[in-house]
Amino acid sequence: MKNIDAYTHVRGESIYLDDIPLIQGTLFGASFGSPMAHGTIVNLDLSEAAAMPGVVRIFTYKDITGENQIGGIVPDEPLLSDQEVHFCGMPVAFVVAESIDAARAAVKKIKATIEPLRVITDPREAQALGELIIPPRTFQLGNTNEAWSQCKHIFEGRADTNGQEHLYIETQGAYAVPQEYQAIKIYSSTQGPTAVQRAVSRVTGLPMHQVEVEVNRLGGGFGGKEDQANTWAALCALAAHLLKRPVKYSLHRMEDMAMTGKRHPYSADFRIGLNEELKIVAYEVTFYQNAGAAADLSPAVMERTLFHCTNSYFIPNVKATAYSCRTHLPPNTAFRGFGGPQGMFMIESAIAKAAETLGIEASVIQERNLLQTGDEFPYGQKAQSEAPECWHKATELYHLTDLRKETTVFNAANKWYKKGLACMPVCFGISFTKTLMNQARSLVHVYTDGSVGITTGAVEMGQGVNTKILQVAAKVFSIQPDKIKIHTTNTFKIANTSPSAASATADLNGKATLLACTAIANRLKKMVAEELSVAEDAITLQDEFVWVNGQKTDRDWKSLVMAGHIKRIGLSEHAHYATPEIHFDATKEKGHPFAYHVYGTAILGVTVDCIRGTYTVDTVKVVHDFGSSMNTAVDLGQIEGGIVQGIGWMTMEEVVYDKEGRLRSNALSTYKVPDIYSVPKEIAIDFLQTPHDNLAIFRSKAVGEPPLMYGIGAYFALRNAVRAFNNKGYFPFDAPMTPEKVLMALYATQQEGIIQPHEETSKHLAVDK
Ligand code: MTE
Ligand code: HPA
Ligand code: MOS
Repeated sequence: MKNIDAYTHVRGESIYLDDIPLIQGTLFGASFGSPMAHGTIVNLDLSEAAAMPGVVRIFTYKDITGENQIGGIVPDEPLLSDQEVHFCGMPVAFVVAESIDAARAAVKKIKATIEPLRVITDPREAQALGELIIPPRTFQLGNTNEAWSQCKHIFEGRADTNGQEHLYIETQGAYAVPQEYQAIKIYSSTQGPTAVQRAVSRVTGLPMHQVEVEVNRLGGGFGGKEDQANTWAALCALAAHLLKRPVKYSLHRMEDMAMTGKRHPYSADFRIGLNEELKIVAYEVTFYQNAGAAADLSPAVMERTLFHCTNSYFIPNVKATAYSCRTHLPPNTAFRGFGGPQGMFMIESAIAKAAETLGIEASVIQERNLLQTGDEFPYGQKAQSEAPECWHKATELYHLTDLRKETTVFNAANKWYKKGLACMPVCFGISFTKTLMNQARSLVHVYTDGSVGITTGAVEMGQGVNTKILQVAAKVFSIQPDKIKIHTTNTFKIANTSPSAASATADLNGKATLLACTAIANRLKKMVAEELSVAEDAITLQDEFVWVNGQKTDRDWKSLVMAGHIKRIGLSEHAHYATPEIHFDATKEKGHPFAYHVYGTAILGVTVDCIRGTYTVDTVKVVHDFGSSMNTAVDLGQIEGGIVQGIGWMTMEEVVYDKEGRLRSNALSTYKVPDIYSVPKEIAIDFLQTPHDNLAIFRSKAVGEPPLMYGIGAYFALRNAVRAFNNKGYFPFDAPMTPEKVLMALYATQQEGIIQPHEETSKHLAVDK
């Protein structure tokens, strides 16, 4: 079945926040963000701005009717700065005016005198100063201290990953409309309607039942709107609450890039030990997460880094420690993979370091250490592993041995072009790592004309969740898709929702929908069974007709529904689903946090131009574990999109902050994302339908995030290509592998290379140019 949004998307008719017709009297907001990353506001002069034409009012923290606090996990994030500023772009004042232009013009007239304080942008520096968001956490399996003596080879190193801009096509925004009795309705571009409801409730002081949040769809979220849609919604709601007029704020792209957090940059130290047979015996890793100026979701992201620190491998002795470090950057946040990709990059770097030093292919080590069913993860869960199956199918189906030979032959024959290959296995846990978040509800109405309306907590952001939920209802009722409508996500219809995140949206909301539809269908079947005096299980619904004992009757779906209504049978259901089996004990750092894992293996091939440092990703060949895909079109789109986004993170996307904490890559002219010319020439996906039972909806495994991590292979393929040209130079594990870094590594020398060691990173070189 095709994506149900395809028709209106292609015609430009899909409704996003900015397409909602404005109510007369609507005002427009714009925020004044701190021009400095860290300091004390000694004077805030709003007089000139307030006198600008069209300006209605300028809000500061003094106007907040509730609490000046939007921190979710840790209450460390004021909505509007009260005195201190913690990052460039931190909202200090909110201008509301008769037009967007008037609001933006007034923002430019605000003058803040700020006494500067020390700016920290480096997580290691923050850690050394004790600037931590939460206490460090350690996951442990076996005993690494004792294991080193069993190792024949031990390697140490450091690896770094940079941030990533979400670059959802639709920027952040909200539209708040006052209702009677103080209530407020907010249209928000958010993945977490309840998160917005909570933040608005806290900031305005209104109880949650006075705050209605409605979401039609997003033009992308990618994690960036899991928590960070709250700010704009709270600002609009506060202004609307006080002015009694609708207030809208839709961010300019450059505001969005400068004021919102991104994927967390990480730095890590690793130590890996292998025995004679190249089995990884021990692995120690210390992560320094660059959290930015406030907690946001960083503690949860950090946790997922620990969960995924051994990727697809079984390692009997592991010690992984993570620090969430407070710096003066915009608070970093959820981004597809949620800390998992960073954890995986570090273990892949450790394996690459071992392979490079031993002079063997990394894939030899990778293959030898793949997780087997029954193996224990460092957090105690036992694997139901599809890793070997994915790996072996990929290497056979795509002829890895031949690919390797061709690469060697090509590299021997070409001086100025080099090819590189890398294998990237992935293992990703499905469920929110916070067990309590793994619940969802669905409200299903069957109308008397046979049409069906469904509301869940799921937010459609392009990932196709509404299509999958619709498929659930279509299957249970056995009716045509055009009889079913998925309604907007609304906190007055479905309460206490988890954000649409963790790749689990279709599982959680789909299962709740399955329960709701099944309950209604069972009531109708029971009615027919009683009428006909047959057993309930003799009745089935097939292709819009009632069947009895495998025989089609002449009663169709519509007349069945009407008969049910006449008999006063409930045609609506509100169902609740909570993932069974999962649990986690954070005091022991052990448990069974994931409903299941998604596995896969990608083989990536690249070509590097050794004169220019430019490169192409030629091919990505994947065997991916879908369980049993319920929608191959949607799932293929997720895989392709995830791969390209992952490659972007690893290659050309370079978030650059200067030492003063100012974002220098603040527009699409300075921040490069993959375009149609840079996507791999070939993406081959093999749908591995794995037979084991799982907790996914219709056994169709979650697909939103896992494919992004195939992109990590692009880094290592490029590294291999560069090393085919120069394997003697200084070459840190430092993603992204921009063409500049490739060029420098191609001509680096043993001692220092052209890239300086990490203290003076190439990030700064890029700025100085
Ligand atoms: N695909 C599109 N087109 N747009 C998005 O914003 N977000 C990703 C992924 N795929 C995203 C996307 C992220 S970060 C997650 S967690 C999942 O979709 C969320 O949706 P799901 O739970 O339905 O997979
Ligand atoms: N994934 C994504 N988002 C989340 C998670 C998670 O595990 N936990 C809290 N928010
Ligand atoms: Mo996705 S990072 O869990 O929104």
